Parts: sequence; structure tokens; C-alpha cells
Amino acid sequence: MAIGSTISDVLPLGSRLNELGRLEVGGCDTIELAREFGTPAYIVAEDDLRARARAFRQAGADAGRPDLQVLFASKAFPCTAVMALFAEEGLHCDVASAGELHLALAAGFEPERIVMHGNAKSVAELQMALRERVGLIVIDNFDEIERLRRLIEAGYGPLDAPGPGATLGQRPPEAPAGAAARPQEVLLRVTPDVRGQTHEKISTGQANSKFGFSVADVPEAVRRIERVQGLSLQGIHVHIGSQLTELAPFERAVAEVARLAPTIGECAIWDLGGGLGVRYLEAQPAPPPIEDYVRALLDAVRDPAQAGAGRLPLSEDGSAGGGATGAPPRRLMIEPGRSLTANGCVTLYTVESVKRNVSTWVAVDGGMSDNLRPMLYGARYEAHIADRPGGETECVLAGKHCESGDVIVAQALLDDPREGDIVLTPATGAYGYAMANNYNGVLRAPVVFCRDGDARLVVRRDTLDDLTARDVR
Ligand SMILES: Cc1ncc(COP(=O)(O)O)c(C=O)c1O
Repeated sequence: MAIGSTISDVLPLGSRLNELGRLEVGGCDTIELAREFGTPAYIVAEDDLRARARAFRQAGADAGRPDLQVLFASKAFPCTAVMALFAEEGLHCDVASAGELHLALAAGFEPERIVMHGNAKSVAELQMALRERVGLIVIDNFDEIERLRRLIEAGYGPLDAPGPGATLGQRPPEAPAGAAARPQEVLLRVTPDVRGQTHEKISTGQANSKFGFSVADVPEAVRRIERVQGLSLQGIHVHIGSQLTELAPFERAVAEVARLAPTIGECAIWDLGGGLGVRYLEAQPAPPPIEDYVRALLDAVRDPAQAGAGRLPLSEDGSAGGGATGAPPRRLMIEPGRSLTANGCVTLYTVESVKRNVSTWVAVDGGMSDNLRPMLYGARYEAHIADRPGGETECVLAGKHCESGDVIVAQALLDDPREGDIVLTPATGAYGYAMANNYNGVLRAPVVFCRDGDARLVVRRDTLDDLTARDVR
């Protein structure tokens, strides 16, 4: 299925130029949106997110695994309304902190549809995950196994013994009447030493990663988990990185999971993480479509030897050689984040000033407080004036913050930009809102959902009082 707009693939599905020559997103005129909701603002085309969620699920069915569980990696856009939309679309949810778990529950995900991640889960976060009975906890390191053992022995979680009060101010962990004891199901996060081509700051599959167990440590991790009464090891998790635009590294990662599976007894679940890249600029080559990505993963699951050509199965101690690849997993999971949300959202700004020195500086009312990615890892975006898209004046689209590096688009091509223009940057739906901050006391931007010409505010803008709301006087 082709997802995109008639103007540019980087804009949300259904975007168009209306009769007034203005860009329209989700059927709404962006100039009108700026007037009604102010700027900066994240504008989300609801239908775009839904189409991508459906594309992932359909791709699983088309490739012979209608049971493929698609988890929304909520870190990409951790907003209750976005998460609720994906819950409605039948997705599951990946969370990586107590805060994201709280949001997922508020958004309506049943606990069993939630998977808890994190390389540094606090005791309080593990307590919360156990108490809420999340579907799976993905164990990242040996200390976490110990922490879980201590918590379960202390009465938190799955064995339903009454335990000490909760520390996150939520309900205490007493067993519901009649609840049966059941172990907490867990996965082991493994770093398979597979690298894809992406920015080093979002690469996670390499041997020297802060995430997960190295392959050599897997057998020992399995032994230790098996000794904890109350934990049930169900399988393996891998996530090799983000914004990957080639399929081969994903396939190699699947092959590595298949090699490891026999060391995990009955390895029922393979969670293959997220990472599919998106297009931020029209000029960039298109990444593989969702359908091709899912099919490649599922083909690799069916025939891992082919996918990982050349590597030998693992022996008992985790080193290469010996052993056999196991049965295919009973449950398959993937965790897309960026590819579900990035292109479904644009950010609207107002031009505050245009200044010319060596460059033409177009300064807008947002920047690194609503989109940190250009500063964090040189991420590139396009920009368009909402009622004069296209253009040939090369400009620097600069943010309003007190850092020279606060540049949203280093080489924007705009049509004679002027003070008061509404500018939009496409493809800001992933890791923008998620990393929003109040630098310089700037108020975080609202989120507006648009569909069929109707716009509704789902997250309001910060107020000045929000800036002092946490002060203790
Ligand atoms: C464990 C895990 N799963 C899924 C994702 C989502 O990745 P992406 O947004 O690239 O699809 C991430 C991103 O960092 C992650 O760490």
C-alpha cells in the first residue's frame, strides 16, 4: 500500500494544496490551524497513523503470520492520544520507563499488551511493572535479574503474595481475590553484534552497546533466570538500531536470534524490535515499504540459515559452533516507533524575523525545545511556507533558543520568507514531542489531531504557570 500525500511523500497521507494555495493536513488548512491553536504546534494527521498501523498488521497477515504482534514503541511519540489511537488499532505497546507505562495504561492498553523495556530500570519501575502485571519484562542485565528476584521474594508481583506498599504512590500489590499465582513472563534482550547503517547515537546492535546481554553471556543469564521462582523466560528480544533503511541487517539479526533460541529452552517468543527508517526529505531515497520490511523479517524467521548466511549455530557456552537452530517462535513481535509516527505529523512555526548576513536567517518561534534531533545527531528536515510551498531562496531556518546550534533546517529552500509567515516542517512525528523541553523557558507545543477537516486539541500548550508548577515554596 502506498502511504503518502499527493504533494510529497514526506508529508502526511492526504496532504494537499487547497484552493487557496495553502498546505492542508488531515483536511485542515495549516494557516487556519496556526491561527486557531497558535505556533509552534505539532499537527497530526490521524488517518496517516491509522493507515500505518493497519499496514503493519496487514503485512503480517499477508506474509502468513496474522498473529504477528505489532507493538508501538511509545518513546517515539509518548502522548496519550497517540497511544490510545494505536491501542484502538489493535497494537500492543512498548514502554521504557514508569512514565511511559503510566501513559500506556492511561491510553487504554491492557497490561498484558504492554512490554516493559529499559537498560536501567529502577526498583520502583520494576515494582510498578510487576504490580501492574505487564505482559512481558525485557531483562537487560544480570543486576536486573537479581532485582527482580528480590522484589518477587519481597512479595511484589506475580506470585500474588501480599507485599510491602508500593513506592510510586499507586495501588499496593495485594493479590486480587481469587487470582491465581502465575509467573512474570520475561524476555532476554540480546545484543547480537549486528550493525546497520545509521547514526552511531541510535545504533544499538553492536557488541559494545549499553543495551542487552552479549551473546556470550546468554547461557549464564538463562541459568540465573531459571533459578528465580516467579520468572518465566519466554524468549529473546533484539533491537539493532533506529532509522535503518536496508533490510539485510534486520535479516542478520533474525538469524542471530535463531542461533540463540536453542539456548533458551522453549524459546516461544521472538521480539525483533523496531528500527525501520523513514524518509525525511523528498530528495532522499525511499526506505523499504512496511510490507517489504515485514515480509523480509518473516522470511528470515522461516529460513534463518539463509538470512544469516555463513554464521554457525551457538554451542552451550554461547560461543560459535555446535547446537542447532530451534523451532520457529510461537509468538512473533515487532516494535516500530518512527515508521508509525514520523511522517504523520508536521510542526507549524511562525517566522519572527528574517535577517541577512552571510546567510539568510529565518528565525521561528520554536526550535530545539520542540525538535532536538537536528542538534542531537544532525537530523535533516525540509521546510515549506504554508501558503507558498517550494521556493528557491536558500535560508537557515533557525530556532529561538540561545544556542548557535539551534538550527532546524540548515539549508531550507523557501519562497521569499517574511516575518509572519507560517512555516511547516514535515516528518516531525517521531522523537520530537518525545524530547520536547522548556529550554529558555519556552512553553512546550500543543498536539492537534486532524481528520477529515476537523481539528481537535489533544495536548494543550504549556502555560507560564506550568513553568513554576513544580516549585516547592
Ligand atoms: C527496544 C526498542 N524497541 C523499539 C524501538 C523503536 O525504534 P524505531 O523508532 O526506530 O522503530 C526502540 C528505539 O530506540 C527501542 O529501543
